[in-house]
Amino acid sequence: MSVITTATRMWLTRSLKPFQFKNEYDHKLDYSNTDHLGLYIHIPFCESICSFCPYCKERYVKERCHEYIDTLIAEIHHVGATADGTKKKVTSLYFGGGTPALAIDRLGDIIQAVEDHFIIAEGIGLELHPGNVTKENLRKLKTMGITKISIGIQSFQPKLLKLLGRSVIDPQNIFDAMREVPFETVSMDFIFALPGQTIEELKADIDMAFANQANHIAIYPFINFTFTKSTIPVMAKKEKRKLLDEITKYCESKGYHRDSIWTFAKKKRAKYSSMTRENFLGFGCSATTLLKDQFKINTFSIEEYKKRIAANDIPTSLTIRFTKRQRMIYYLFWTAYSTKIKAKNFEDFFGESLKKNYGFELWLAKKLGLVNEQDHVYTMTLKGAFDYHYYENYYTLAYIDKMWGIMRKEAFPQEINF
Ligand SMILES: C[S@@+](CC[C@H](N)C(=O)[O-])C[C@H]1O[C@@H](n2cnc3c(N)ncnc32)[C@H](O)[C@@H]1O
Ligand code: SF4
Repeated sequence: MSVITTATRMWLTRSLKPFQFKNEYDHKLDYSNTDHLGLYIHIPFCESICSFCPYCKERYVKERCHEYIDTLIAEIHHVGATADGTKKKVTSLYFGGGTPALAIDRLGDIIQAVEDHFIIAEGIGLELHPGNVTKENLRKLKTMGITKISIGIQSFQPKLLKLLGRSVIDPQNIFDAMREVPFETVSMDFIFALPGQTIEELKADIDMAFANQANHIAIYPFINFTFTKSTIPVMAKKEKRKLLDEITKYCESKGYHRDSIWTFAKKKRAKYSSMTRENFLGFGCSATTLLKDQFKINTFSIEEYKKRIAANDIPTSLTIRFTKRQRMIYYLFWTAYSTKIKAKNFEDFFGESLKKNYGFELWLAKKLGLVNEQDHVYTMTLKGAFDYHYYENYYTLAYIDKMWGIMRKEAFPQEINF
């Protein structure tokens, strides 16, 4: 971990104590008093594996996938059951992976298990591979209650899809299917900062998405995780920054609403995000859970995941128990993704004033032109969003790269510190 991230962490948490992830956990999670809770379910199977992808996944084998889903359903019943049988209200449910639609005939069973214990207030989202987007699949998804879909387009440019090792898609088939089976939110994922990628190509991708059913897009910078086998070169920082600048200005000139650091919506209402939640429960291997006092990560090993569930236990690999300051920093870091921090929400969450705790930092951020303040709402300026984007990228590489690199090899590491 670099001197910069360590010094920043010490400054913001006002402590020498590192973020300490340990191999210990609560065998029963207490989320009964947690408001604004989201749910996430991880399905780790893909038809073919992309060399650049960091997520926990393996090649799809039907039997193995069915066994995994049986285990997942057992985990949901174990974690979701309450002593008096009352159902907990949650904001949303998101399926990610991997490629969740490979288990399309079991998704209804999973949703049923979730609904046995939770009331989902704001709909159900699911990630799709472009190869999954057929009229038949979309109809099935809609019938089982999915309201939001996100499609991993990456790029509409054949040369960039080839560079990524992805099959070249015929977008017309996807657009036809989506026109016939509409969803409340249709998001499309793109990757930018690929070698040789131009702003004209990105503008064409954005226009193509919004002209064809998408009402939301996510544009992620390409990250070269050290543990993947990707040989795709990374774009120089200066070039990347220029591209991001141009993408943002282009989307804003078209009237698209920036609803998080890397996402834009056609209308304010369209939303697709499994991450920008105050608290969430994650089910399945590698899924994470964030509660008021702790953050935990499930094991990446499907074998060990099954063993824990068979033993009527939960599949936690590592847990960090937050100090109050650490939780505040965690809260601010994730909330900042939405480009807005509301003092009232912070105060409702912690029962303490944002200004009292981080008044100096907010004053400094205003002086540096990174945020504006109006009615106790701090909104990132364009400059603030760029800087955050870069810090987040740096942090993602430093933190996720180290953590996931270890967890892919060890089901239950002893301890990881940052
Ligand atoms: C789980 S995948 C989406 C669904 C489906 N598996 C697919 O690939 O189409 C999640 C998204 O993460 C993004 N992603 C994966 N690896 C990445 C990397 N190395 N850098 C940046 N984004 C990445 C891609 O945009 C991808 O669509
Ligand atoms: S990018 Fe999507 S399809 Fe490719 S390996 Fe990752 S999860 Fe699977």
